[in-house]
Amino acid sequence: MSLARLKKFVTTMTRIADMASDDDTWLRAARPVLGELVAVDDWLPDAYAAPDKQYYRQYLLHCDPLERFSVVSFVWGPGQLTPIHDHTVWGLIGMLRGEEISTPYRAGMDGGIDISGEPTRLVPGQVEALSPREGDIHQVKNAFDDRVSISIHVYGGNIGAVRRHVFQADGTIKQFISGYSNGAVPNLWNQSLLGLSSDSTIRKRESASERVRHR
Ligand SMILES: [Fe+2]
Repeated sequence: MSLARLKKFVTTMTRIADMASDDDTWLRAARPVLGELVAVDDWLPDAYAAPDKQYYRQYLLHCDPLERFSVVSFVWGPGQLTPIHDHTVWGLIGMLRGEEISTPYRAGMDGGIDISGEPTRLVPGQVEALSPREGDIHQVKNAFDDRVSISIHVYGGNIGAVRRHVFQADGTIKQFISGYSNGAVPNLWNQSLLGLSSDSTIRKRESASERVRHR
């Protein structure tokens, strides 16, 4: 298992952050990059793929130092689901393992909350976008009752610190800050863990006889 894929992803996202001036630019540029990350499921460390018996987990994998974006592994235990919630920042969801179902909602005329479209089922390698401008209220659940599903999310901010909302069927809206499930992030800067092969010899040491000959 190598963190090199995640390191490369974070590097590319940082370059996009340096040039993206609005949500559309972000989503257009970052979508294929996330697609590349979730196309192969061999890099997510087990510590960030561990489900909880009771609640879904949100493990922070990286947060941009300027909080322009964050990367999260979202781990669903069997049958787990979110409340109906919004994000208030753009988001991209890439399915890594298993499948999940997202149902879109919007505020109803009567003050309640209504389903606003067909549910979307994400399969491994697929990427979906969320934008507050187009409506970013949804409820998400693991598509399976008998296995873990994992998606990789990227958001336009430090999502664990963003003030957002949960919506209840009776119209009650509550503010929340999600935080993260983990206290430590993967170490992307330890080059010895980033996938160098064992055959990384630059040059062999000269033998004693060669050293004599070169003098
Ligand atoms: Fe969400």
